[in-house]
Amino acid sequence: MSAAPITISPSLLSCDFGRIAEEVGRVERAGADWLHVDVMDAHFVPNLTIGPPVVKAIHGVATVPLDVHLMITEPARYAADFAKAGAHVLTFHIEVAREPEAAREVIRTFRGEGIEKVGVSLNPDTPIESVADVLDEVDLVLVMSVFPGFGGQKFIADVLPKTRWLRTAGYTGHVEMDGGVDLTTLPDCVEAGADVLVAGSAIFGAPDMTQRISDFRRLGEEAAGCRP
Ligand code: DX5
Ligand code: ZN
Repeated sequence: MSAAPITISPSLLSCDFGRIAEEVGRVERAGADWLHVDVMDAHFVPNLTIGPPVVKAIHGVATVPLDVHLMITEPARYAADFAKAGAHVLTFHIEVAREPEAAREVIRTFRGEGIEKVGVSLNPDTPIESVADVLDEVDLVLVMSVFPGFGGQKFIADVLPKTRWLRTAGYTGHVEMDGGVDLTTLPDCVEAGADVLVAGSAIFGAPDMTQRISDFRRLGEEAAGCRP
């Protein structure tokens, strides 16, 4: 487990894209640890978002690490672009590299580009065993708690056993939960073993963002104390 009990990674997908530099400053001042950047290609998911030039622009104004979540079919092809754009964490989906050797090749490519933290993600209907072969090669496992593509969806609690499975298997890297994380669902995620929490609508939609992030941290630290 990482030294900090809880890392909060607000998803910029829910920010005002017309004022992205101001939004980065606003969420950093409110207490963000990382910034979660959702990259979608309209192939892997039915939505199209941002690419390397915008990640580079965010990196130019950000002071915290960029946590880049690639929901794209060809992660290795774009690894160099995202590395140059300033990705600190770079996460790909196991569904696009199902064979262990294919997944290892993506991981090697990311590392070859100098990515500091390599992550692997899985959709709600993908079994956790699908990442078992690469666990010793990744710094982070991103457990999707909604089907990727859009913010503001309802948390799927059925994925919580995946997080428990990872910790029971002895995985000591980051476990990140993404999708529908809010004041109600966050404690269950942390108790199950998640230490990085992504939230878009629950943070950017909060009446007081600083208060919301500090509530997340308090609830997360309390729940971390309740882990088995
Ligand atoms: C969904 C994205 C998430 C999304 C989370 O495909 O991966 O990062 O922005 O948004 P909320 O927190 O609103 O579910
Ligand atoms: Zn995401």
